[in-house]
Amino acid sequence: MHIRSATLAGYRNLTDADLDFSPRVNLVLGRNGEGKTNLLEALNYFALGRSHRGSRNEDLIAFDGDDLHVRLEVCRNGEISFTCEYGLNRRGESRLRIDGEAVVRRTDLVGRLATVFFNPETTQLVRGGPRYRRQYLDLGRSEIDPVYLQDLSAFQRALRQKGTLLRDLRRGVLEPGETRRELVAWNRELARASATVCLGRVRETALLNGFVQANHNALLDNDLELILVYRPRLECLQGVTEEKAGNPDFPGQLEREIAQELDYIVEQEIRRGRPLAGPQFDDLEIGLDGVDLRQFGSQGETRTAAIAMTLARSDVLFATQKVRPVIFFDDIFSELDRERARRLQEMAASLHQVFIATARPEDVEGWEPRDMRRWRMESGRAVPATVDGMT
Ligand SMILES: Nc1ncnc2c1ncn2[C@@H]1O[C@H](COP(=O)(O)OP(=O)(O)OP(=O)(O)O)[C@@H](O)[C@H]1O
Ligand SMILES: [Mg+2]
Repeated sequence: MHIRSATLAGYRNLTDADLDFSPRVNLVLGRNGEGKTNLLEALNYFALGRSHRGSRNEDLIAFDGDDLHVRLEVCRNGEISFTCEYGLNRRGESRLRIDGEAVVRRTDLVGRLATVFFNPETTQLVRGGPRYRRQYLDLGRSEIDPVYLQDLSAFQRALRQKGTLLRDLRRGVLEPGETRRELVAWNRELARASATVCLGRVRETALLNGFVQANHNALLDNDLELILVYRPRLECLQGVTEEKAGNPDFPGQLEREIAQELDYIVEQEIRRGRPLAGPQFDDLEIGLDGVDLRQFGSQGETRTAAIAMTLARSDVLFATQKVRPVIFFDDIFSELDRERARRLQEMAASLHQVFIATARPEDVEGWEPRDMRRWRMESGRAVPATVDGMT
C-alpha cells in the first residue's frame, strides 16, 4: 500500500500544497519546528481518524484559519485503490470520506489506510506503563478484526459507566439497592466484551510472537530470544493458550467465568469506589533471553525491542490481510547507532513505502535507495530538494 499524493489545505503550519510521493522512500529534512512532524501527522490522520499525537482536532487547524482539508490518493498493488479525505472546522464538525462516501463509524476505517508510526515515543512500549502495551495489542487487533474494535469500545463505555456508578455510590448520592442491580447489569456487558478483548489479546500476542524475534535478530544481527507473554489480570484467564482460545465453545464459557469473577468482588468494589478487575489491568511481558525488559532493559535494548515489536505489527498485517502498511519514521534514527539505523531503513524500505522525517541529514547520509524522493521543509513549505542541495 502506498500514498501516491496528498492535497493539503489549512493544516497547522503547512503551506497549502499538492504533493506527489515516491512509492518507496520519502525523505523530509528540515530544521526543528519547520513542520516535518505536521506533514507526517497529516498523512497518518486517516489511519486512525485522529492525530497520532493525541492532539485535539481543533488544534490541527492553522492558527489563522477556520478549517482544514486533506485528501490522499492511496494505491494498492500499484493502482489507485481509493481516495480518502477529511475535513475539520472550528465549529467542531468533522467529516471523513472514502471515495466521496461519508465514513460514519470508526470501524469503517479498519483495513483502509494501514500505517505504522515510529517516533521517540515508541520506546514507551517497553519502558512506559502497561497502558502502552495494552494500546499496542488493541491497535494491532483492531486493525485486523472489526468485531474486536466494536467490543473494545463497548468494554470502555461499560467500564466508564460502572466507574461512575461506584464513585457516586461511595459518595452516597445513589440509592444502594437500585445501584447494585445496575452494577450487575454492567458486569454482564463487561463480561461479554471482556471475553472478546482478552481472547483477542491472546491471539494477537501469538501472531506477534511469530515475527518479533526475527525482526529483533535482523536489527541486531544476533540470536537473542525475544518473547512476548500476555499477562491478563483476571483469574479465569490464567494459563489460557491460543489453542484453548480457538475452541468454539470457549468464548461463551469464558464470558460466564468472567461474569462470576466480577460479581464475586462487587462488594469490595463498592467499598473502594472503583472497578478492581478486568482487562484494563492487563500487561504484556517482554522477555529478552529470560530477562524482563520492562524492568531491566538498557536504553539500547529497550529501543531495539520496541522497534522489533512495532515492525511486527506490520508483519501481522501482511500475514493476515496481505497489506504492507505505510511506515513513518519521525526522528528516531538519532537514537540508534549508525549500523542499526541503516538496517532498519533497509528492512522497512525493501517492503514498504516509508516516510522519514529528520533534522539530521547524517541519519541518512550515503543511503541511496532507488526511487528516493527528498523534500526540505521550510516554514511549512515542502520544497523538492536534490541530493546536492541537502548536504
Ligand atoms: N495549528 C497550528 N497552526 C499553525 N502552526 C502550528 C499549529 N500547530 C503547530 N504549529 C507549529 O508548527 C511548527 C512545526 O511543528 P512540527 O512539530 O511539525 O516541527 P518539526 O519540523 O517536526 O520539528 P522537530 O524537528 O523539532 O521535530 C511548530 O512551530 C508549531 O508551533
Ligand atoms: Mg518533529
